[in-house]
Amino acid sequence: MLPASLTSITSIIVHLIDFFAVNKLQTSPTPLKSLSFELRHLHAVSPFGHVVFQDVPSLPEGFSPQHENRTFNIKTRQISTQRGPDFDSLWQARVHSMKFGQSQRLNWEEVIIPGPDVESRETLLQLAKMSSNAYLTPEEPEWYDLGGGWNNTYPFGWDDDGFRGQVFATPDNSTVIVSIKGTSAGGIVGGGGPTVKKDKLNDNLLFSCCCAKVDWTWTTVCSCYRNGWKCDLDCLETALIEESLFYSVGINLYNNLTYIYPDSNIWIIGHSLGGALASLVGVTFGVPVVAFESPGERMAAGRLHLPSPPSTQHVTHVYHTADPIAMGTCNGILSSCSLGGYAMETRCHLGKSIIYDTVSNCSWSVDIRTHTIVSVIERVLSAPWPPSAEIGREVPEADFEEDCVECYSWEFGSYPAKLEP
Ligand SMILES: *[C@@H]1O[C@H](CO)[C@@H](O)[C@H](O)[C@H]1NC(C)=O
Ligand SMILES: *[C@@H]1O[C@H](CO)[C@@H](O)[C@H](O)[C@H]1NC(C)=O
Ligand SMILES: *[C@@H]1O[C@H](CO)[C@@H](O)[C@H](O)[C@H]1NC(C)=O
Ligand SMILES: *[C@@H]1O[C@H](CO)[C@@H](O)[C@H](O)[C@H]1NC(C)=O
Repeated sequence: MLPASLTSITSIIVHLIDFFAVNKLQTSPTPLKSLSFELRHLHAVSPFGHVVFQDVPSLPEGFSPQHENRTFNIKTRQISTQRGPDFDSLWQARVHSMKFGQSQRLNWEEVIIPGPDVESRETLLQLAKMSSNAYLTPEEPEWYDLGGGWNNTYPFGWDDDGFRGQVFATPDNSTVIVSIKGTSAGGIVGGGGPTVKKDKLNDNLLFSCCCAKVDWTWTTVCSCYRNGWKCDLDCLETALIEESLFYSVGINLYNNLTYIYPDSNIWIIGHSLGGALASLVGVTFGVPVVAFESPGERMAAGRLHLPSPPSTQHVTHVYHTADPIAMGTCNGILSSCSLGGYAMETRCHLGKSIIYDTVSNCSWSVDIRTHTIVSVIERVLSAPWPPSAEIGREVPEADFEEDCVECYSWEFGSYPAKLEP
């Protein structure tokens, strides 16, 4: 366990590397054309924990994709990212790091690839719509922009592990986008589908400071807390690694996709928990990520001992300040999260964040209902954002969350449980 001062020096170094990587990038901006993505597969988790894919029938001949709106046009730009070593080496590094508490040096190779143009509002809007579809079965009316040919039921996976989404690809397969579903908002906002239970366990492990111990009356998901706001880090990391089904399923999903699309650039997108997972998987493999309203996942990345590349600037978060989940403020005893049995306490994000200040600029009140992807699509991204438009930008500037502090009332360290007499 690193002393706090050393941890912050490490983080400064990481940010410096990011800083230089970004500046280097800005010297060679190459605007690229838009890419057109078509829905190809749904993905879900089988009852046996395998990632399964369902092909989506292609459009009948003579159907105009524009007319049917089954395709999404996304502006791209060159981005620099790091490709890690092969999967086995990555995995061994992670195991080594978990066992011995120290990271191994890995060779990351810088590559320039087309990534989403996150400075374009229209691009963010399209990606948000694609993320939104991951929540829905095709019969549901909110299904965005999917036209004819959709009369099919997808029996597997929908009601199980709460991990599902879609796969989109360009006609030549050069770029593939995978979307990952988040927490079923019903769990927090009321209602609630069958995936809520599993989502809740994962949310509480990944995004609380210490086993979701919000106050001393809570039943928690692990028992690593000790008296006086002390938290045993070894215990916490073990719990996270054993229970974090989502991260390992995410890794399998990515691996399977690279079998189907061996030569493609893969981007990962998602909303809420899905956004956090998109980021955790994207950081592992050095691929472009756009995450909407994700809770702070930086702490989870550390606790999961992810092998992460020297720079995380290929990860872009998009969120707004009235969303207590993305802001890490949904955790008071009377908050809607606590009442629903969630503890969302972390607030620092990996990579760069595009933050819409809906509280200051639109007088929104902080409200869990603004967390939904539909609210982001319809109320944040659908029209030009005045504070950005005023200064000639389409979206707020993306920035690293340099001074972010979280879970400061807890003391993390080695506090083995005392045996009961
Ligand atoms: C889907 O197909 C079934 C028959 O296979 C039909 O009864 C149903 O009305 C169709 N639904 C829609 C929305 O077209
Ligand atoms: C794209 O990948 C799919 C697999 O989903 C394959 O069937 C198809 O032939 C590929 N198309 C091209 C142009 O390579
Ligand atoms: C996905 O990968 C797993 C191993 O990680 C493998 O067992 C499975 O067959 C793969 N599935 C597909 C559809 O490629
Ligand atoms: C938007 O909010 C920021 C503070 O977050 C403030 O500096 C700016 O002036 C506001 N702009 C408008 C148009 O309200």
